[in-house]
Amino acid sequence: MSDYIDLNGEEQSFGDTDAQRQVRENDRGYVFHSWSAQDQINPLPIAKGEGVRMWDYDGKEYLDFSSQLVYLNLGHGHPKLVKAIQDQAARLATIQPAFANDARSELAKRIVERSFDGARSVFFTNGGAEAIEYAVRLARQSSGKRKILSRYRSYHGSTGTAITMTGEPRRWANDVIDGEVVHFFGPYAYRSAFWAETPEEESKRALEHLEQQIQLEGPGTIAAIVLETITGTNGVFVPPPGYLEGVRALCDQYDILMICDEVMVGFGRTGEWFAYQGFGVNPDLVTFAKGVNSGYVPLGGVVISEKVHDAFRTRAFPGGLTYSGHPLACAAGVASVDVFEEEGIIERVRDLGERVVAPRLAELAAKHPSVGEVRGKGLFWAIELVLDRETREPLIPFNAAGEAAAPFNAVVAACKDGGLWPFAAGNRLQIAPPLIISEEDLVKGLDIIDEALSVADSYYTGK
Ligand SMILES: Cc1ncc(COP(=O)(O)O)c(C=O)c1O
Repeated sequence: MSDYIDLNGEEQSFGDTDAQRQVRENDRGYVFHSWSAQDQINPLPIAKGEGVRMWDYDGKEYLDFSSQLVYLNLGHGHPKLVKAIQDQAARLATIQPAFANDARSELAKRIVERSFDGARSVFFTNGGAEAIEYAVRLARQSSGKRKILSRYRSYHGSTGTAITMTGEPRRWANDVIDGEVVHFFGPYAYRSAFWAETPEEESKRALEHLEQQIQLEGPGTIAAIVLETITGTNGVFVPPPGYLEGVRALCDQYDILMICDEVMVGFGRTGEWFAYQGFGVNPDLVTFAKGVNSGYVPLGGVVISEKVHDAFRTRAFPGGLTYSGHPLACAAGVASVDVFEEEGIIERVRDLGERVVAPRLAELAAKHPSVGEVRGKGLFWAIELVLDRETREPLIPFNAAGEAAAPFNAVVAACKDGGLWPFAAGNRLQIAPPLIISEEDLVKGLDIIDEALSVADSYYTGK
């Protein structure tokens, strides 16, 4: 039996150093990588992926606890998604967006049916950043207002307005492409910007801060408030009680649109179709991408409320994309919705999160002094690592690189040595495996993390 199939469709065995060298040479020779100093990286060549696992060319197996970039919700090689793409490619691989297309319209219908009360239509994009760009354009064009409020400790994508809205270091070198974006602080009870001592207090004070900011910026100038419903890469912040409802109320009071960025948390990640559904709020616009079709073919979009949709009934919307609603991507999306329902994905995410992950992380927090806090929902969690529980000094400084990041890099290396590919961000190990993961594999991955946390403990300086 072969280990993997190569680019020419030929069966190959692991351990072929020539094949691996070729991939590395071509990559280092010709590929320009994201977010990197090109001479300081050495991307690992991956030969094969299957379900929740991937293998390098030496045959080393990794359990993927990051769902690639938190998009591989149904794992590698799901037969129903593969078949849907193959069938679509054979019957109509592409059609430009001005035509009506069955795969596109079926997916739009299914997404609207699973969305908030008052959801009316979907504009499809090629990914998450574009979804943000279009949500903002819809908000600005429909409201006639320009300003956008977004949070610190957020990521919204790397294109013009999306990177300006981003509230973390990836924005810095790109400041300021869109001059009408203002940042505010959201709740983060563990490191409260508001000296709050309980989640309830954090929620209340974060809302008071937001209201002041709205008043000082001028409600009449603000088109939308944008938030990641549960913040992703910047720390898995589950909103404290009343916060999202409070943002909704402020939006209503000041006639501002509420945009939930669900690019990372949409489509089952938190045990709901969309994360906002766990908090009983109805946004006006919702961005999605990634998990909509597990990233088999790039796809993103915006779910649009009736109110915003109606602004463009007799007036043309000024925007579009050549590949809006690409049939290959949409066919994979339709198949993905089928799989979610046939395999009870939403219910199993809830169950595994509550029954397996939450108690095990509580156990790890009790066992390892370096664990400052664990937080999350469904199959989306963060383990925040500290040097000292009392002072909460992070294991490595904010935005650390090089030597300063060494302690955290050692923890990540221990995970990889143990056969787990973690979602590593800042001073946090984040947990986001494919949603089809078996209980056995989930426990196996958490066991590897347990071992790796001993490395974090070795740096602990607290009492
Ligand atoms: C919350 C959120 N919004 C937007 C984006 C941007 O998506 P993309 O990289 O597909 O443009 C990301 C990507 O990680 C994200 O996590």
